[in-house]
Amino acid sequence: MRSDVTLRRLDEGLLEDLLDAAVADADPLEVMPPVAGPDGWNGERRAAFFRFHRSRSLSAEPVESTYAIVVGDAVVGAARLCPLEGPRHAVEAGVWIGRSHRGGGVGGAVLHQLLVLARADGFHSLFVSTTSDNAANQRVLTAMGVDLVREGDSVTAWVDLVAAGQG
Ligand SMILES: CC(C)(COP(=O)(O)OP(=O)(O)OC[C@H]1O[C@@H](n2cnc3c(N)ncnc32)[C@H](O)[C@@H]1OP(=O)(O)O)[C@@H](O)C(=O)NCCC(=O)NCCS
Repeated sequence: MRSDVTLRRLDEGLLEDLLDAAVADADPLEVMPPVAGPDGWNGERRAAFFRFHRSRSLSAEPVESTYAIVVGDAVVGAARLCPLEGPRHAVEAGVWIGRSHRGGGVGGAVLHQLLVLARADGFHSLFVSTTSDNAANQRVLTAMGVDLVREGDSVTAWVDLVAAGQG
């Protein structure tokens, strides 16, 4: 497991660095909900990126916790934990990593740290949702021994945070 990967709670300073990483190294659709208009990182999408994170994570009543993924001292992506409604005490995890940092073990290290954070926050299970064509995301999960549920193009996984030995 890589030891040079850290998660830092998002703040306004890190948000600027996160946008720079996204613009340089990721597609808008990989990092935030779709914004209408021509492809690419135009001014509207950059503003939408700020609005998205400020409303969800940096507001007075945040709906999720977002972390900048830092490798060495460079921001390379984002990870989030979003509590889910219902009796399971569950939280949904999401991750994106800049293209030039993918495939080098960062994703595995991030998921491991998200499990630790979610458990420390008192959640009982962690939910991950992805698509059947996202081999890297599925591999990160199966490498941790997590069972995947496939339904059409959808692939989901529940990680038990209470069971001994997980994470
Ligand atoms: C999905 C993602 C977070 C994975 O992070 P990563 O740092 O690339 O993953 P890792 O390097 O830790 O690789 C994990 C495993 O996936 C494998 N892998 C990586 N990229 C792969 C690819 N394109 N195809 C198949 N396997 C791949 C690695 O070999 C590794 O397997 P191993 O443990 O057997 O060695 C990252 O690729 C990403 O940000 N993708 C774009 C955004 C995205 O899809 N987010 C998830 C939305 S649900």
